[in-house]
Amino acid sequence: MKLSIKPENISPQELHKLLLNFIGPRPIALVSSINYKQEENLSPFSYFNIFSINPPILIFSPLKRLRNNSEKDTLINVKEVKEVVINMVNYKIVEQTSFSSSEFSANINEFIKSGLTPIKSDIVKPSRVKESPVQIECLVNDIISLGDKGGAGNLVICKILKVHFDENLTINSDEKKIDLSKIDLVGRMGGNWYSRNRGESLFEIQKPNKKIGIGFDNIPKRILMSYILSGNDLAKLANIEKLPQANSIEKFKTNSKIIDIFNSSSNDEEIREKLHYHAKELLSENETFDAWCTLLIDKLNRI
Ligand SMILES: Cc1cc2nc3c(=O)[nH]c(=O)nc-3n(C[C@H](O)[C@H](O)[C@H](O)COP(=O)(O)O)c2cc1C
Repeated sequence: MKLSIKPENISPQELHKLLLNFIGPRPIALVSSINYKQEENLSPFSYFNIFSINPPILIFSPLKRLRNNSEKDTLINVKEVKEVVINMVNYKIVEQTSFSSSEFSANINEFIKSGLTPIKSDIVKPSRVKESPVQIECLVNDIISLGDKGGAGNLVICKILKVHFDENLTINSDEKKIDLSKIDLVGRMGGNWYSRNRGESLFEIQKPNKKIGIGFDNIPKRILMSYILSGNDLAKLANIEKLPQANSIEKFKTNSKIIDIFNSSSNDEEIREKLHYHAKELLSENETFDAWCTLLIDKLNRI
């Protein structure tokens, strides 16, 4: 059974806690800004993402404090000096990033408090965070307030002016391709939870077929109803442009694995089960065509 909740029936504090558990993992912008007195500020924001490429736009959102409806220092700063650096957060700096979210007063420099190193930006006045793997110098194009109560967001619309990233993050010598296994970015979840993006957490999905896949509605019923194949498996099958022809399926019958499966039992149901398990394995290796041949060898699956 699903639980259903309307925002107006719980407090903003409860709603905040609830939503952050499933709107995530969220990327983290460690934002450096300055006020008109040139005092530096560094704070993390996970209400953050990319919203446009041309023009190149990032948006983060400092909320009005739920506790007392006051404005966060970052928001005050970007109203005064319309420049920021958005520093991306990887595992190496996640504790320091979290510490920088402490509510130090406006004249306290969080670079010093959190032990992160400021380095001069090329274009904007706020400093970059040396330890951050990617530092993005931005102009603040606009600030859109979403309300006047505590918890109201303020969209800080940032135009990218220059991006800096560590040389050792790139694949070979291609300066525009980042090796995702090296960057080790973290994401913000609910409560005190974060996620780490490396190793087995990273996986690839083949882009939907450019020539348009056949779709679930063209998958034979017996395959669609398989208790062995998951929604993810079926989506890979649906992404094929057209089903293998009879001659490809015939040829596939000489495949040693297929011969083994047919020789292993005289029971049709048992053979079908084994074929589905084998197709599942092939799909996990992105061998979609072979998976289809495996499934269609079993004549009943074609119905
Ligand atoms: C990882 C992380 C993400 C955060 N994301 C946000 C956010 O998106 N919006 C927000 O208002 N506060 C967010 N916070 C809390 C602010 O960082 C915190 O209120 C901070 O004190 C604001 O600093 P400032 O007053 O110097 O701007 C986040 C805190 C952490 C640790």
